[in-house]
Amino acid sequence: MKKLCVFASGSGSNFEAIAREIHVSLLVCDKPKAAVIERAKRLKIPFFLVNTKKPREDYEADIIKKLNEHGIQFIALAGYMRLIGETLLNAFENKIVNIHPSLLPSFAGKDGIKQAFDYGVKITGITVHYVDSGIDTGKIIEQAAVEVTNEDTLETLSEKIHKEEHKLYSKVLKNILIK
Ligand code: GAR
Repeated sequence: MKKLCVFASGSGSNFEAIAREIHVSLLVCDKPKAAVIERAKRLKIPFFLVNTKKPREDYEADIIKKLNEHGIQFIALAGYMRLIGETLLNAFENKIVNIHPSLLPSFAGKDGIKQAFDYGVKITGITVHYVDSGIDTGKIIEQAAVEVTNEDTLETLSEKIHKEEHKLYSKVLKNILIK
């Protein structure tokens, strides 16, 4: 099994769902106050806080140093709301994946769930894909559809999406990490 690092910026519900299924060796976080840090502490998973005040090239070099110290072989972005630069992409070529809460290529970027809800689509979903230099672009690995009913609010739709994310991401990661 390849050694996994999860990158996250926010609540970290996906981080925790992954950690319950797969051994996570390290968390990388760019927001000192993010709730995901508390989850890492509770789950006793080491974490690294990135100093993003530096130029991207420099803080990504810091990240790579940490990843190497922990013997990391694969990266899963889980709500890491920052572009991955050339430095990290070159060091971990084809070894970074992301989860996005829409059926890409629709509704990329921030607030994918709200974008789909506001647009009025009847089917939305989630996408796990390889990461390239774009925002939520890169080869798609797996998708799952989620129906939007007339009764759904943004809140109920968000709950359904997150539930699917928590199931799908660790399943996809397990398959990739054993190869
Ligand atoms: C997830 O819904 C994930 O798909 C999304 O951020 C959320 C993080 O939630 N990612 C993106 O929008 C990437 N563009 P979490 O912190 O509770 O795991």
